[in-house]
Amino acid sequence: MHLTEEEKRVALEQTGNILENYSRERGNLIPILQQVQEKLGYVPLVAMEEVARHLGIPAVDVYSVATFYNQFRLIPPGKHQIKVCMGTACHMKGGNIILDCWKRRLGIDVNQVTPDREFSLERVACVGCCTMAPVTVIDEEVYGKVTPTRVDGLLFSFGVKIPKGQQKEGEAVEQQ
Ligand code: FES
Repeated sequence: MHLTEEEKRVALEQTGNILENYSRERGNLIPILQQVQEKLGYVPLVAMEEVARHLGIPAVDVYSVATFYNQFRLIPPGKHQIKVCMGTACHMKGGNIILDCWKRRLGIDVNQVTPDREFSLERVACVGCCTMAPVTVIDEEVYGKVTPTRVDGLLFSFGVKIPKGQQKEGEAVEQQ
């Protein structure tokens, strides 16, 4: 995904601020990446290069660590973050069907963002609302007993029009 010049500028500025609080020891790598993610919501390549420079290690080493741990997101999250619970209760109640439904409707896979950057999709562990399984969390709002029809309804409430009939896998959603 291509970052705008403004996104790069913000990423570099924020990363620089974070690095001021860390010495140049390699052991600081993960805490620094965590801070970058907390501040920016993701860890962009420009930030990794800056971190590498600060720690005096090759950028590829930073990249390897950031891609190894799936706690790190490498692309900016969507404006709306859709998290589908795949904990045991939700899984038993068809969480995977709901996840597939979101994937088809958005035309993206897990850990991806729609081309218009409106939505990103994640699978998460139990969010603590098991009696409402299967659960989807959108931004901070929890939605329980989600069905495929409810998925369409939720998208509609965000201004996404679902064409009648089954959408094909990978087909882009139609924006109003
Ligand atoms: S398993 Fe989904 S909320 Fe607990």
